[in-house]
Amino acid sequence: MQKLLVTGGAGFIGSNFVHYALDNTDAHVTVLDKFTYAGNRRSLAGLPEDRFALVEGDICDAALVDGLVANADVVVHYAAESHNDNSLHDPRPFLDTNIIGTYTLIEAARKHGTRFHHISTDEVYGDLELDDPERFTESTPYNPSSPYSSTKAGSDLLVRAWVRSFGLQATISNCSNNYGPYQHVEKFIPRQITNVIDGIRPKLYGAGENVRDWIHANDHSSAVLTIIEKGEIGQTYLIGADGERNNKEVVELILKEMGQPSDAYDQVIDRPGHDLRYAIDSSRLRRELGWTPRFSDFEQGLADTVKWYRDNEDWWRPQKSETEAKYKVQGQ
Ligand code: NAD
Ligand code: DAU
Repeated sequence: MQKLLVTGGAGFIGSNFVHYALDNTDAHVTVLDKFTYAGNRRSLAGLPEDRFALVEGDICDAALVDGLVANADVVVHYAAESHNDNSLHDPRPFLDTNIIGTYTLIEAARKHGTRFHHISTDEVYGDLELDDPERFTESTPYNPSSPYSSTKAGSDLLVRAWVRSFGLQATISNCSNNYGPYQHVEKFIPRQITNVIDGIRPKLYGAGENVRDWIHANDHSSAVLTIIEKGEIGQTYLIGADGERNNKEVVELILKEMGQPSDAYDQVIDRPGHDLRYAIDSSRLRRELGWTPRFSDFEQGLADTVKWYRDNEDWWRPQKSETEAKYKVQGQ
């Protein structure tokens, strides 16, 4: 039985991965999570006690990390400060967790010869014009825009350097925007769904022309497992499911699914430096490792996500008013 150490496993994508790995492999999973505002114990409720352990702690804590990495076969590194809007108002935690935390983990993985998979984002590549026929590939130059994406870019470069200089047994994946259950209500899709449930009109930044390339979190998880099993050490793989939609289209779909008029949203002030478009070419992952996404119908996936938030109000309700109060101060 493989022993996986999953950092950030109480967050959105990490918790989806933990469920997916326990359901689809015989691995033992240990989660290391600091339980920032973004971590949620309820996302890990009911997991099998003989195959799952939870450690509350910081990936910047070298002594703690060393002991956990020494006891793992594979480290899957999701932990991060993940929200662009937060990074624009208080960048410091992004430097600590995304840069120093990643450094702390790869030093331990290097020392113990532990296989390491680094989870990253398409945002490291900057943005594309709306009419650009090209999409991001593994060889697109790095050009991050925000404090969040620049710290993720920095963490990717640390991993690459540790592979080349120290022989770290690592792979990297850069994925597009995820949606699905267990996503914090600060993020675009859950914010709008829970706003509609609360009788608040969805909030669109600017004209809503910005395009994101949506992928279901389960498809991200299956891609990460594929890379851990079959990926070549030192390589980067882009993960995406051909899900480009602009924000206005997404809000209109949510409103339709929730029985509201399609124009029942507000336009609010735009995010500074707002990336215009992300688009992933995942052909390398599909061709070389044989991965394919399962959730090809975005509208159905979105309808399932609306249902999940309707059915799981006890999961998101404690975070909602604080999150909206923060947005209100920002005029968003
Ligand atoms: P999230 O904010 O929902 O979860 C982050 C988790 O990390 C939380 O549980 C938090 O408590 C934990 N954490 C934060 N700082 C920590 C620290 N110092 N030590 C230990 N744990 C800490 O984030 P997410 O959206 O699930 O993103 C997870 C990863 O996936 C990130 O690395 C992010 O860059 C990457 N990613 C996200 C997306 C997306 O669409 N959300 C897309 C591509 C890549
Ligand atoms: O591309 C991958 C990235 O996707 C990840 O690396 C990040 O961790 C993740 O947060 C996400 O970043 P975005 O900035 O794209 O996600 P967010 O949910 O914050 O916003 C999605 C789009 O919706 C973006 O164009 C901003 C817009 N938006 C967001 C909010 C919260 C709105 O129009 N209104 C809103 O209320």
